[in-house]
Amino acid sequence: MKYNRNILITGGAGFIGSHLVRLLVNKYPNYRMINMDVLTYAGNLANLKDVEEKENYEFVKCDICDFERVQKIFQDYQINSVIHLAAESHVDRSIRDPFSFAQTNVMGTLSLLQAAKHAWDGDFDNKLFYHVSTDEVYGSLGEDGFFVEATPYDPHSPYSASKASSDHFVRAFHDTYGLPTVISNCSNNYGSYQFPEKLIPLFINNICNNKPLPVYGKGENVRDWLYVDDHARAIDVIFHEGKLGNTYNIGGFNEWKNIDLIKVMIKTVDRLLGREEGSSEKLITYVTDRAGHDLRYAIDSTKLKEELGWEPSLQFEEGIEKTVKWYLENTEWLENITSGDYQDYYNEMYKAK
Ligand code: NAD
Ligand code: TYD
Repeated sequence: MKYNRNILITGGAGFIGSHLVRLLVNKYPNYRMINMDVLTYAGNLANLKDVEEKENYEFVKCDICDFERVQKIFQDYQINSVIHLAAESHVDRSIRDPFSFAQTNVMGTLSLLQAAKHAWDGDFDNKLFYHVSTDEVYGSLGEDGFFVEATPYDPHSPYSASKASSDHFVRAFHDTYGLPTVISNCSNNYGSYQFPEKLIPLFINNICNNKPLPVYGKGENVRDWLYVDDHARAIDVIFHEGKLGNTYNIGGFNEWKNIDLIKVMIKTVDRLLGREEGSSEKLITYVTDRAGHDLRYAIDSTKLKEELGWEPSLQFEEGIEKTVKWYLENTEWLENITSGDYQDYYNEMYKAK
């Protein structure tokens, strides 16, 4: 079968990437999706079990920093679009090990940009390099206001500094070489298949297992939460209709103080497990604050709504209920991560073939 597009999706075995791959593989049988992922601790091919046999899906194990191999993959698969999600994504890890964030997020992005430039060689018809980024590049808000696309970059953590740098490289390739690029900056995502080091899956898991819930500082930091499938839908819309050289903010106008969100999770888990509602609040443990902890993120996604018609589809109450239920029903997925067994999946499924 001849495909209209050969799309290189990087980081497709991660949390957001797997939701995006699933959406695109099922929605566009005339596109071929090549998932390039090196399978770090955060990459889990079991996230994609339901699409791995689809004809228009291909997995390639490769480090985005390996420029020679990336170039070969562009040739072998005649890549004409890139949706780049591969990254080191956890702020706490970036505080402990900033080098790997600069390596993957900055050098890896540069390697992909350079490979696209070489492969497309000035012929940019029907080509696109889409970079998936974060609202954390804008820094931290006070009590009021929102991040808009024109908000100056002011990253604070090594993670956000590396993402900001990669955004700048993407813009530089657009402005210098005319590479057709687009960037989106999204707020915090939640949903199924998120690695249980991030707030929501970690706390759901701990509540279930009666483990302490480590709340950083006073729990007063604010995050703007978006259901992961709504993010994937936004990427789909921007991929098809976004204006080249533009940035789009993605968010759900859904701000929560950490401690309030934690209490919602506690109530939901308690109810679903038949415990007295709120009884797990005793697990809340205030711990030393994260260094450089940004106080508040809030995204204004008006541009995306007005120009491209995207809006979140799910109310938060519904999204968090679905998410908690998913983690309660998928204990095997969680156990495989906790035990490390998920890392054998690649060997079992792919190496043997
Ligand atoms: P994740 O950590 O769950 O997944 C990252 C994926 O990238 C993993 O599959 C990992 O194996 C892969 N990867 C890491 N280094 C690689 C390398 N050198 N070569 C190839 N693959 C590599 O991350 P996520 O939460 O799904 O985030 C995906 C993207 O979205 C990131 O770029 C992140 O900055 C951005 N983002 C995330 C959020 C969020 O709330 N999670 C919000 C906005 C933007
Ligand atoms: P996280 O999920 O790591 O996302 P990000 O830092 O990218 O926003 O954290 C969300 C919020 O929850 C953030 O304010 C830090 C806080 N947090 C805790 O209080 N305890 C935890 O154990 C974790 C992982 C996060």
